[in-house]
Amino acid sequence: MKTVIIGSGNVAYHLAKALLGSGVPLVQIFGRNTEQLRSISYETGVPFSTETLSDADLYIISVRDSTIGEVSRKISNPYSLVVHTSGSIPLDALEGNYHKGVLYPLQTFSKSKPLDYKKIPFFIETQFPEDRVILKNFIKNISPKIMYADSTQRQYIHITAVFVCNFVNHLFAKGKEIADREDIPFEYFLPLIEETVEKIKEVTPKQAQTGPAVRNDKNILVRQENLIQDEMALAIYKIMNQSIQKMYEL
Ligand SMILES: NC(=O)c1ccc[n+]([C@@H]2O[C@H](COP(=O)([O-])OP(=O)(O)OC[C@H]3O[C@@H](n4cnc5c(N)ncnc54)[C@H](OP(=O)(O)O)[C@@H]3O)[C@@H](O)[C@H]2O)c1
Repeated sequence: MKTVIIGSGNVAYHLAKALLGSGVPLVQIFGRNTEQLRSISYETGVPFSTETLSDADLYIISVRDSTIGEVSRKISNPYSLVVHTSGSIPLDALEGNYHKGVLYPLQTFSKSKPLDYKKIPFFIETQFPEDRVILKNFIKNISPKIMYADSTQRQYIHITAVFVCNFVNHLFAKGKEIADREDIPFEYFLPLIEETVEKIKEVTPKQAQTGPAVRNDKNILVRQENLIQDEMALAIYKIMNQSIQKMYEL
């Protein structure tokens, strides 16, 4: 399949690398950011353009969510399969006369961090049932973990991902601010973070909970509240403890 990736951000970059690494050639990387496109093109050897979109059987649109519709209007081949990679944008946000689909990779992508693409679950959706097989066979080149999710289910997959990845990462960032302020190296916490993730492979997150809130240790909770200087960190601390105590009916 002649394949074009549209976009030059984190996901576009990783999808290009994953596909090329699996022996799937790309016709073009298309976008608006010449510098980023040139850098991806230099690394992958795939030609890029900001002007002329090549003809293709498959277009993978990996741009900012709010611009998917606008970008998708550039494609006019009615026989092409056009997919976007967003968790929360419905399939019908694609605007045009072509076969529509979604290819949502459930992973956190940053250009600076290499990934084992074979471990990534891909959630696919297609407008026409026959395209499901085509998309599945295509993605099989990257990962064997391919599931079907419609636009409604995918929104909930994305919300869950926001809780388990984006919020957790923000807590790392807020925790690091506290450690930094007290000159405590953040590396000290890495074994704890690793064990927290390892543990939930064996027991449920609910079973794995520890800490002063689940022990209902009120003295510690008040003492820690008094130690937190940052207003937002204090609000997060309080709401997290409330949530833990509600879950365990304390
Ligand atoms: N990052 C993740 O972990 C992740 C995971 C799963 C799915 N996704 C989805 O993948 C898609 C891309 O995410 P990303 O993280 O790769 O985003 P990103 O790194 O922020 O890159 C966004 C890309 O969209 C382009 N863009 C923005 N506005 C545009 C416009 N008006 N017209 C044309 N191009 C435009 C940007 O070009 P400029 O550089 O010129 O702004 C850039 O190439 C999104 O739908 C996102 O929800 C992301």
